Amino acid sequence: MANILITGALGQVGSELIDFLLASYSGTIYATDIHKESTLKSNPSVKYAVLDVRNREMVENIIGENDIDEVYHLASILSASGEKDPYMAYNVNLTGTVNVLNASVTRGVKKVFIPSTIGVFGPEVQKEKAPRRHASIPTTIYGITKAAGEMLFQYYYNKYNIDVRSLRYPGLLSYKVAPTAGTTDYAVDMIKHAASGNSYECYLKDDTRLPMMYMPDAMNSTLHLMTAPAENIRVRTSYNVMSYSFTPRELENELRELNPEFRVVYKPDFRQSIADSWPWSIDVTDAINDWEFKPVFDLKNTVSDMFQNYRKFSEKLNPPD
Ligand SMILES: NC(=O)c1ccc[n+]([C@@H]2O[C@H](COP(=O)([O-])OP(=O)(O)OC[C@H]3O[C@@H](n4cnc5c(N)ncnc54)[C@H](O)[C@@H]3O)[C@@H](O)[C@H]2O)c1
Repeated sequence: MANILITGALGQVGSELIDFLLASYSGTIYATDIHKESTLKSNPSVKYAVLDVRNREMVENIIGENDIDEVYHLASILSASGEKDPYMAYNVNLTGTVNVLNASVTRGVKKVFIPSTIGVFGPEVQKEKAPRRHASIPTTIYGITKAAGEMLFQYYYNKYNIDVRSLRYPGLLSYKVAPTAGTTDYAVDMIKHAASGNSYECYLKDDTRLPMMYMPDAMNSTLHLMTAPAENIRVRTSYNVMSYSFTPRELENELRELNPEFRVVYKPDFRQSIADSWPWSIDVTDAINDWEFKPVFDLKNTVSDMFQNYRKFSEKLNPPD
């Protein structure tokens, strides 16, 4: 039995994490987000509440009043949205994280998961197999707040002995909830367009290589990390994880095997410079050694699974005559 708090639960990761948690935990999940209305499927084990993570008192109260054992702190402003409103990104990503960490200490939370990102790397990092420990300074507000967040995880672990764990997610691919705020979102959108028979305009150049992972692997890795013995978790900033990397052109070619008519036009926008500041791949050795990180989906399986699911969904909406 564990009572779990999720912040940012209506987002791309939160909406999927809930199903994975329900399958492995008993207890109540307190799913929270800044929006008044929940878009989550109703479930007797899930209670929805409004929580703005910038509000210290609200964060303290929800953790204290509901006897929370574990927190999955997902509320965040991502890379593309962050560049549009850096002050908001700073407040949500840093003030929100400090509020969650403080309340977890004062209210006796047992474990905290807070994802980081490949956005913590800056343009000087080596492009292939970027190392977990690096001295590369991020150039986006998202990366800056997330890199500072990683330092805070380690600080709270050392100073208050709170069991904070973290993964640097790469671009996450999922068909259940559309991503809306990141730089790697094009990949999900491109697969969706190919499956629904439309052409696609891509906001990154065709040769922009970025690390990625399918959502089921990201969620299983998260639960794997969170259930590993504490002594195995040697890294208290954040672990590098990824499954594969590809360029928009490589994804287009993969999709053309499923839909030979599919076409993409490349029109880079402001997100190109964000993508150019990130590595092509990252070194996952620590995650393998410490808690046996092992994703199962390769690119082909990911694309074909997402494509089939989008097809099924659009056939339900527009049944064949
Ligand atoms: N999706 C990815 O590809 C990806 C990649 C790397 C890292 N991550 C990390 O994973 C976590 C979750 O990302 P996501 O993809 O679900 O993002 P998302 O943008 O889909 O969801 C974030 C959620 O946070 C909520 N939120 C925003 N401001 C808030 C506030 N002040 N208080 C409470 N909630 C607020 C939003 O309403 C949204 O539902 C983030 O920490 C992100 O940095 C995601």
